[in-house]
Amino acid sequence: MPMRSLLYLAIICTLIALPFACGKTDHLQGRNLYLQHCASCHFETGEGLRQLMPPLAGSDYLEKNPGMVVRGIRKGMSGEMVVNGVTFNHEMPGNKELSEFQIVNIMNYINQAWGNDFGKITVEETRRWLEE
Ligand code: HEC
Repeated sequence: MPMRSLLYLAIICTLIALPFACGKTDHLQGRNLYLQHCASCHFETGEGLRQLMPPLAGSDYLEKNPGMVVRGIRKGMSGEMVVNGVTFNHEMPGNKELSEFQIVNIMNYINQAWGNDFGKITVEETRRWLEE
């Protein structure tokens, strides 16, 4: 029964490959959403712009306050904040249209891009932070 064993082989391969493929598309979605919603201010390189736009690359604020950032992405941010020793005080608009999943993918992109190594966040954490 070569046909049947081929079929089994195909199923097993799909099961093994699926998580990797999903991880890849999440990362791609995160990057695309970042370019669409964030890069106009924080730039594709995550460098920010002098005292106007804080950097995301190497940001201690992003590393230490994932919950504040998740809420900020949804609801916007304003008021003084210190990022890598520099004080910023401008307004970041919210993104009401982004789903929890999209916010998770953006976060997991910026937490790992540009040499950042700030871990990964889950949908459950994100949901909790958004409800706080
Ligand atoms: C219109 C410009 C603008 C856009 C678009 C924007 N931001 Fe911001 N962002 C800012 C400003 C300005 C601040 C600082 C807010 C303050 O001073 O309170 C900020 C702060 C931040 C911070 C915290 C400080 C830091 O550098 O770590 C993070 C993280 C962040 N933004 C991520 C994002 C993400 C992700 C997106 C896209 C979903 C985004 N921003 C879209 C302007 C923007």
